[in-house]
Amino acid sequence: MIQKKLAGEKAAEFVEDGMIVGLGSGSTVYYTIQKLGELVKNGLHIKGVSTSSRTSSLAASLGIQLVSLNEVEKIDLTIDGADEVDRNFNGIKGGGGALLFEKMVAKASAKNIWVVDQSKRVNALGSFPLPVEVIPFGYTHVNKALQERGFKPVLRTENGEPFQTDSHHYILDIHTGSIDDPHALHQWLKSLTGVVETGLFIDIADAVIVGEKQTASIVTK
Ligand code: A5P
Repeated sequence: MIQKKLAGEKAAEFVEDGMIVGLGSGSTVYYTIQKLGELVKNGLHIKGVSTSSRTSSLAASLGIQLVSLNEVEKIDLTIDGADEVDRNFNGIKGGGGALLFEKMVAKASAKNIWVVDQSKRVNALGSFPLPVEVIPFGYTHVNKALQERGFKPVLRTENGEPFQTDSHHYILDIHTGSIDDPHALHQWLKSLTGVVETGLFIDIADAVIVGEKQTASIVTK
């Protein structure tokens, strides 16, 4: 999709020589990583911190040097996609299942830029099913608590089996409807024993690059 390409490639302009760069996951940041691969071939020196096994393979195939999150004290800039972004730059992520590593990398970053196409911008979060990462042990009990709250959880599957994250966790996609208070919902979900992380990314993005028909615009707070 051209909007994803425009947004993804635009974000690469914010990467400077010598930076440690968090590399998000998904089909929009794919274009950022491709662009960074080109720039690296032309002499740009960066170190990437990957947020998923898929991103690691892509970055490595393009000659981008990777370091683990444990090896760095701070990441200069992370570029990632999002499934929904509201007017306060809060978002839902995890459509691709990489939410835990994405959030850890984002929180270790001095700056976070999200790359999205226009369809991802919303007035209120909650149309996109919210991914909740859970440990497989006893997850049916977490599922029950979510059901009792009216969230209609659905265990994410792949080829007929439970989908497993890079950390071998499961994902319950929940249907919240419009989320009035993302922070309160995130806190409640995290209070359930067995929940590892939620796809609510609150107060993380500093800027959002939105791909439009022919251009990409940078929106800052
Ligand atoms: C991966 O788990 C997600 O958080 C992605 O960043 C998000 O789903 C956006 O992906 P696309 O750019 O493919 O829409």
